Amino acid sequence: MDPKIEIEKLRSEIEEHNRRYYLEAAPVISDFEYDELFSKLKKLEREHPEYAASESPTQRVGGAPLEGFSQVTHETPMLSLDNSYSVDDLLEFDSRVRKALPRDEAPVYVAELKIDGVSVSLLYEGGVLVRAATRGDGRVGDDITANIKTIRAVPLKLNGNFGENEIVEVRGEVYMPRPDFERMNEERVASGEQPLANPRNATAGSLKLLDPRITATRPMSIFLYWLRYSDMSRMPGSHYECLQRIKEMGLRVEPNAARFDNMDSLIKHLELWNEKRSELIYETDGMVIKVDGVAQQTMLGVTSHHPRYAIAFKYPPEQKRTKVMSIEIQVGRTGKLTPVANLEPVLLSGTTVKRATLHNRDEIERLDVREGDTVIVRKAGEIIPQIVEVLKDVRTGEEKPYEFAVKCPVCGEAVIRDEGEVDARCPNAFCPAQLRERLAHFSSRQAMDIENVGPSLLNQLVGCGIVKDYGDIYSIRKEDLLKLDRMAEKSADNVIASINKSKKASLDRLIFAFGIRHVGSRTARILAERFASLDALAEADEKSLLEISDIGPTVASSLVEFFSQEHSKEVIKKLRDAGLNFHQTDGAVSSELSGMTFVITGTLSRPRDDIKRAIESAGGKVTSSVSKNTSYLLCGDDPGSKRDKAIALGVKVIDEKQLYDLTRIRQ
Ligand code: IVH
Repeated sequence: MDPKIEIEKLRSEIEEHNRRYYLEAAPVISDFEYDELFSKLKKLEREHPEYAASESPTQRVGGAPLEGFSQVTHETPMLSLDNSYSVDDLLEFDSRVRKALPRDEAPVYVAELKIDGVSVSLLYEGGVLVRAATRGDGRVGDDITANIKTIRAVPLKLNGNFGENEIVEVRGEVYMPRPDFERMNEERVASGEQPLANPRNATAGSLKLLDPRITATRPMSIFLYWLRYSDMSRMPGSHYECLQRIKEMGLRVEPNAARFDNMDSLIKHLELWNEKRSELIYETDGMVIKVDGVAQQTMLGVTSHHPRYAIAFKYPPEQKRTKVMSIEIQVGRTGKLTPVANLEPVLLSGTTVKRATLHNRDEIERLDVREGDTVIVRKAGEIIPQIVEVLKDVRTGEEKPYEFAVKCPVCGEAVIRDEGEVDARCPNAFCPAQLRERLAHFSSRQAMDIENVGPSLLNQLVGCGIVKDYGDIYSIRKEDLLKLDRMAEKSADNVIASINKSKKASLDRLIFAFGIRHVGSRTARILAERFASLDALAEADEKSLLEISDIGPTVASSLVEFFSQEHSKEVIKKLRDAGLNFHQTDGAVSSELSGMTFVITGTLSRPRDDIKRAIESAGGKVTSSVSKNTSYLLCGDDPGSKRDKAIALGVKVIDEKQLYDLTRIRQ
């Protein structure tokens, strides 16, 4: 087949599967088959850079990090909403609307859930996504096109026919589904990173990252609720029809929008959803009530702040009153000390809440929370309930101010607080609490997956001094186990069998299991693929780590620090002696440029040696002269005769940007 046609066919096939997956939640092929189509397209595009197109699904995770965001002006300002907090406020809104409209034109209202996310504008030209922007101050926002493209639910091309220069603008809310947010936070905690406060903050932060490759790992989706055509005659007559149209174009619309011709049923609907909204997987903080008729909307007009045809009805966040019974400190795997309030149990959004995080010392001071205090707890999207307020007027004088620990509550080591850091830490790497957490992580299902070796067994093993680090797990003998409480012959055999089985775990699991700060399972996989052996990774310096796309300076220095520690070396020796797998065994090292030969000519944006190393670290080869076996000539400014030779031999000539497009090499 003509490669151009094949590329186009694959692109539309992939987008169709995206649509089925993200819009209809009804995929018709497996993830594996999808990945295969994707790789096939990537390969063809790599072989034919002349057919590159910004709307290709391969362009979702785009090039190198940005220096900053450029500014864009919104043709129609992105307004905010007027707020209402009571039924009376709403009835007032209704009468204002009725007064402003002609007598015989009673309004119909559309009620939509108010998604608690980040509002964005998407601009399609000729049906192709050309620009995405944040609201900013409503007039000027940031250009976040590269980040928005990473969201699979955003089609890069709309369904339907559009004139070449026809503009369609849609606006809506980007959000992070709660289960994905929670999963992401678990992974962050597992790799020693701070969990993000709530799905909204996580979304806002993810859209403002300068490296779209990191944004691509953040599980975000979108609902649209606003439409504008450059060709006014295309505009539907009602807001409800706009929502239908948005859907037909292949964009997501929140499915619970409803239309009402009287306030009574509208208010019942609002009340019903105050209960039901906690069942949704996305956060909502209210309803938006909009006049349906587009002509009526125009008649009502806008203020500089909000439209007069719409109003937000805010639901109160769920919160309850309870008592702080005690405050205790938890010691994490990396030694981080987290103060936690033990609460008198209360039922909040369907779950019993017994504990609330106090985050750190500053937060305790800010709240001035004391043991015995009556407090208001809230669960508004946060993973762990928060204390929002201390009710100081109901204090009896019996409350006990909390003195933040100066010593680790587990090992007694003096607590440290690094400059510029909010968290206090126990610096003792041998602290039993840290050790227990680290070991539990090491043997967890996501890491070495050592069945039968859970936190309670590890606790006992640490307690009696049999296990002092991961390496010791592999020298546990059956006799040692039989000495423990409730350990029968058969269980001991099972434990030993699981430990032995885990020796064969893949290299990426082992790297993840070490619990190196900032190294989560995804990073571990990338490292295992690139280095193929633990020894190669352990020898890598920061410079070579930084050549890998996806590895930034924080991760690189954390890795170098880990592998340079004497203690790590000793543990690794124990693991080696025990016969653990140190190699990536499943398949060859996957490299984007493997099998390709490059020749470089002309002046490039950075030293030629750097680019050479980057190509090599992505699996490619760099030679000095052009031949018919050369895959690509990388051509900078003022190229020499190599360029003429390449053209004569039919070797593809690419520039630096195209090289970065081919790979995910850091620019
Ligand atoms: S309409 C001109 N509809 O709420 C119309 N906004 O508090 C302006 N929001 O900035 C917005 N869900 O980010 C509208 N269904 C919805 C919404 C919604 C969430 C956000 C939006 C807006 C903010 C105002």
